[in-house]
Amino acid sequence: MKIIIDTDPGQDDAAAIFLALGSPELEVLGITTVAGNVPLALTAKNARIICEMAGRPDVRVFAGADKPLVRALVTAEHVHGKTGLDGPELFEPTMPLQEKHAVDFIVETIKAEESGTVTLCTIGPLTNIALALAPEIAKRVQQIVMMGGAYFEQGNVTPSAEFNVYVDPEAARDVFKSGIPIVMMPLDVTHKVLTTSVRTARIKETGTRAALALSEMLLFFERFDEEKYGTDGGPLHDPTTIAYLLKPELFQGRQCNVEIETKSELTRGASVVDWWQVSDRSHNALVIGDVDADGFFDLLTERIACL
Ligand code: RIB
Ligand code: CA
Repeated sequence: MKIIIDTDPGQDDAAAIFLALGSPELEVLGITTVAGNVPLALTAKNARIICEMAGRPDVRVFAGADKPLVRALVTAEHVHGKTGLDGPELFEPTMPLQEKHAVDFIVETIKAEESGTVTLCTIGPLTNIALALAPEIAKRVQQIVMMGGAYFEQGNVTPSAEFNVYVDPEAARDVFKSGIPIVMMPLDVTHKVLTTSVRTARIKETGTRAALALSEMLLFFERFDEEKYGTDGGPLHDPTTIAYLLKPELFQGRQCNVEIETKSELTRGASVVDWWQVSDRSHNALVIGDVDADGFFDLLTERIACL
């Protein structure tokens, strides 16, 4: 399965990238970075640090949009730390950042690969994707598996919006209107995969460089949500997209209509999910609501042990 990962690393992004690189079912054609959790210079650097931690300096990493389509950038250093990857000891990556712009890479790859064979896994704001999706490109994309949005869980950055959609609601609106098959991993499902101390310890016990680094990342990353939600561990959002590609049977959801609020300042970035099918708006996303959390962590632990 050919994928492009679009990301704003981010400790949970690192978990997603490790899971993908540890899974032979997936061919990672490239990693495209976007401004989000931290500014672009850091997300482009962090993606390379993560690849080197995984022993994969061969992976092509591209820098993309340094700000949303029309709004000012909002970042989340208070969650991810000033580096965006706080937790483990970091280092200057030696692998190169590709010269080509991430959006050009996405467009050229979708054109070059057989139509309908490339999946876009998006785990940050959707700016790069929106910039790439001219109609002749959109119709060639196999599917988008995205972490973003919420319905009953409402929001994590405002009372009504999830961070990835909140940062660039116009981009999210365009993606949901693109006609591409979408699998949406909202907070409603990611809040069911908590990095409990037992689960984090199991990851650490595998002993690989990536696993040791990830366990230190998670110990830092989870503190913010543990304090907010009073839980043991925090939601491990981004690897749910990769796990869905590997074992879709771990997840349950339903086809819904999803639209994004872009006009209201109060509810900017709200993902309006017609879960109960009360509107006549057409279905445009498979919205995931439930997951076998133990099965998810078994998969993540098993694969990170392979790096
Ligand atoms: O709301 C969670 C999402 O925002 C995750 O992708 C996290 O990495 C941040 O980008
Ligand atoms: Ca992310």
